[in-house]
Formats: sequence, structure tokens, C-alpha cells
Amino acid sequence: MRIAVIGCGYVADFYMATLANHPELKLQGVHDRDAARAKAFAAFHRIERIYPALDDALADPQVELVVNLTNPSSHYAVSRAALEAGKHVYSEKPLAMQLEQAEHLVALAEQHGLQVNSAPCSVLSETAQTLWKALRENRIGTPRLIYAELDDGNVPRRDYQNWISASGAPWPAKDEFEVGCTLEHAGYYLTWLTAFFGPATRITSFARNVQPDKGIALDVQTADFATACVEFASGPVARFTCSLYAPHDHWLRIFGDEGTLATQNVWDYGSRVTLATRNRFTGRAEKYPTLARLVGLGPATVSLVRKRRFEYRTKGSNPMDFCRGIAETAAAAREGRDSRLSSRWSLHVNELVLAMQHPERYGVVREVKSRFEPLAPMPWAS
Ligand SMILES: NC(=O)c1ccc[n+]([C@@H]2O[C@H](COP(=O)([O-])OP(=O)(O)OC[C@H]3O[C@@H](n4cnc5c(N)ncnc54)[C@H](O)[C@@H]3O)[C@@H](O)[C@H]2O)c1
Repeated sequence: MRIAVIGCGYVADFYMATLANHPELKLQGVHDRDAARAKAFAAFHRIERIYPALDDALADPQVELVVNLTNPSSHYAVSRAALEAGKHVYSEKPLAMQLEQAEHLVALAEQHGLQVNSAPCSVLSETAQTLWKALRENRIGTPRLIYAELDDGNVPRRDYQNWISASGAPWPAKDEFEVGCTLEHAGYYLTWLTAFFGPATRITSFARNVQPDKGIALDVQTADFATACVEFASGPVARFTCSLYAPHDHWLRIFGDEGTLATQNVWDYGSRVTLATRNRFTGRAEKYPTLARLVGLGPATVSLVRKRRFEYRTKGSNPMDFCRGIAETAAAAREGRDSRLSSRWSLHVNELVLAMQHPERYGVVREVKSRFEPLAPMPWAS
């Protein structure tokens, strides 16, 4: 399927690093409203066609799918224009900055028989698919409680001024801080858990800007810490945390009556998955994890459903196959089926992420409006 990339900034290099994993995706051309950026990006990656304007990309009949890698504030306008031009859309997260905009995009897509899917796509990773399979196989009994963290350390006090992508784009610190780390990152866990457990019915959120001084002049102050409890229609409850302040912690732990499934880093497609049994012996041992491991009562490794196949790293990126989501959107469009990152699911995740980042706008306690049909696991994990 022929694709056009709109937005040639920091993350676009991560996409280019993994495009070769998906030979069915053909890059037709790129566009950035910053012409110099588009030129540097195209030169670095040896891309022949630069579209001078968004409309030029949308007018190209060869382009079937638009990959929207612009800043979050541009997501709605670019995705909307692409859908109106009859193109499928794969958008970086969040789908939109306002719920009404995201709803409009999904309505437009449905009206035109198109896909509008949103990143992150890490639910298609070997690690997420392994966790999901273990849940389907009832390896921990009834899952009732989930703890998920996405703390990224004290980023404002790190040398982010020196973070430059492979083709020379600076990390967009101002935009990241103004958009907020929860809108940027909570999707990494919310996508997994909504895929595993189905739609959420209610979210209760708290958000605060704990460190307003980010070392850079900001036009907007946005919470850099948020925590939320999410209730799923299927039963479990999850507690999520996101911050740009607490020490780095990307643990996900799913607690069931008979065991705990866990993984340490959601930003690694091949992160190890462990399973700890819960019974009266291990219950005591939980207090003494080092001793428990020594006497063989510690968690066991769950083999990944398949080995992490590709090398994903490029300068500054985590080991994630960024283009896997585009490939899934393209395959769904080609096969005329719902995507594993379906439009309605993307909207559901967008609603949850917005509610967690902005309880002042969407309600401290929010009854979640959006719903989606159950998603399918990857064929190699079913
Ligand atoms: N930076 C990261 O590590 C990272 C990681 C994963 C996902 N993301 C997501 O990727 C997206 C882009 O982030 P980034 O870090 O690449 O930002 P960036 O600022 O480096 O790049 C965005 C590019 O989009 C261009 N752009 C913005 N609006 C446009 C428009 N209307 N038309 C054409 N071009 C436009 C800008 O000129 C810029 O070059 C965001 O949604 C972000 O959440 C970023």
C-alpha cells in the first residue's frame, strides 16, 4: 500500500528505522509545513518526493494511506483533510486533542468506509501479545486488579536540549510539556488493557503540575503527573500513573486470584514476561522476593509467543516497531476488515487519555461514552 508521511520531525525518524520491516508499505512521498525540515529528512533517508503542500500529498491518487506524524495540535486538521480526500489514516497519538474532534474523525471515516487508527501500536508487540495469550489461557485465574506505571524520570532536569534525531530534528520539548505526558504516554498502557479486557465504563482521575518550571518558557502549563483508576465492564479495575518527575518506572502488573503477570518495560517489544503463582506459600514469600527467588518461589519467565524479530533501534528510540501499526491499518483496509487498532477503539483510548490528563475538562469521575467491538490478537499469537 502506498503511503505519504505528513510531519518529518523527531518521531518520523523512528518510523523510517522500521519501515523496511514491512515491505508491503511503499513510501510515496513526504510533507512538512517546515520546508527545511522536510528537505533535511528527505535527504537523510533518500526520499525522492517532497510534497510542497499537504494538498499536494492528498491530491496524489497513488497515496492510499496518510501517516500523520505532526504535533498533536495538528492531528485533527491533517487527519480530517486526509479522510475528506478519501485516504485511510494512521495517526500518531493522541487521535485528537479534543473528544469532539476525535468523534468527528471516526464518524468521517465510517461515512467514507475508511480507517482512522491511532498509535501507539505496541499492543501488537510480542510482549503484549504474550500477556494477552496468558490471560486468555487463564494462567492467573480471574484478573481483578492492575497496576501500571509510566514514570519517565525528571525529564525537565535532563539534557533534553541535546536530544536530536538521526536526521537532525530536536526533541520538541515545549510541545511535549504543553501537551502533557499523560496525553503523550498513557495510551501505552490503556491500549493494552482495553484490548485485553474490553471497554472501560468509568475513569476517576487526578492530575497536577508538580514541577511547573520545566527549564523552558511555556505558553501553557499542563499537569506533569496524573493518576487514574479505570473500571472495565468485564470486571477488573486498573490504577495507572504517568509522570515526568518520579524515577523511571514502566512496570505493568496484572494480579489474578492465582497469579501475577508482569513485564518491566512496555517500551520494549521483547520485554520479558513473568508469571508468579499466588498461593499460601508464595503469599508469604511475596514479602521476601530475593529469598523467594533463591528457594525457587520467585516468578517464572513466560516464553514470548514469538521472538522479537527485528532490530528496531535508531538514535534516541526505544526498541519498538513503529511501522507495525501502519502495516496493520493497511492490511485491514486491503482486506476490508476491521483493524486490530480499530477506529472506535482508537476513539475509546483517546477518551480515556483525555479524561486522565484533563479531569478539570472531562470530569474527575467520568462515565465513559465510547465503546468498541472486541479486538483480535495477532495470528501468530492466537
Ligand atoms: N518525540 C518522541 O519521542 C515521540 C515518540 C512517540 C510518538 N511521538 C508522537 O509523534 C508526534 C510527532 O512528535 P515529534 O516528536 O515528531 O514532533 P516534532 O515537533 O519533532 O515533529 C512534528 C513535525 O510535524 C510538522 N507539522 C506540524 N503540523 C503540521 C501540519 N499541519 N502540516 C505539516 N506538518 C506539520 C512540524 O513542522 C514538525 O516538523 C506527536 O504526536 C508525538 O506524540 C513522539
